[in-house]
Amino acid sequence: MRFTYVTLFPQLVEGYFQDSILKRALQSALFSYDFCDPRDYAANKHNKVDDTAAGGGAGMVMMPQPLYDALSRFDNATIIFPTPVGKPFTQNDAKRLAKKKHIVFVSGRYEGIDERVVERFADELFSIGDYVLTGGELPSLVMSDAIARNIDGVLGNRDSLLTESFETSLLEAPSFTKPAIYDGLTTPSEFLKGNHNKITALKFALSTAKTQYFRPGQLIQHNKRTTYEK
Ligand code: ADE
Repeated sequence: MRFTYVTLFPQLVEGYFQDSILKRALQSALFSYDFCDPRDYAANKHNKVDDTAAGGGAGMVMMPQPLYDALSRFDNATIIFPTPVGKPFTQNDAKRLAKKKHIVFVSGRYEGIDERVVERFADELFSIGDYVLTGGELPSLVMSDAIARNIDGVLGNRDSLLTESFETSLLEAPSFTKPAIYDGLTTPSEFLKGNHNKITALKFALSTAKTQYFRPGQLIQHNKRTTYEK
């Protein structure tokens, strides 16, 4: 897998890959990343990439020419535009996109990107939540991280992918480690006894309770699905 970040601010993205699991995956060549700066494609004297909005309105809009020329280079890539008006990005999208060979994330700054660029090049438009960020770099990183951990070999332990939240539409059960009592609070005693059937049953009960509390809509969906599957 190759990730390309089309951004005016590569340094905002770079730091994320310098540590931890993703650093190890990079070193093992499980994926690679590179940058493309639209300014390098600006066909004007001052390498300008933005202009005032047609029809007026606050702020500057990224103009079509530099992005058209930059994105035309990418054949056979999946081109993603992070935007608050996109489809909500989900775990299913992360799993699906982990099978692609090359993903290009196009980060807008200023008030956005001229819509013709989006029309011409976007394969998918994604939002990472109902709030507005100052640019697409953080959403691009959020999506890359979620995608990268679904690439074979990136996580040391594949089982962690199977039990985590959104895999079964129930939220993942809470985790505990030693000591058994901390600050007067105990690890559920079944977790300490080693009876795997009982541990699985307790985890399921805790998952259900957590989903009921934090995501009641998701529990209804889960129940409908499992009833239907029976
Ligand atoms: N760009 C700005 N805000 C965003 C959001 N919530 N999701 C994706 N891209 C964005």
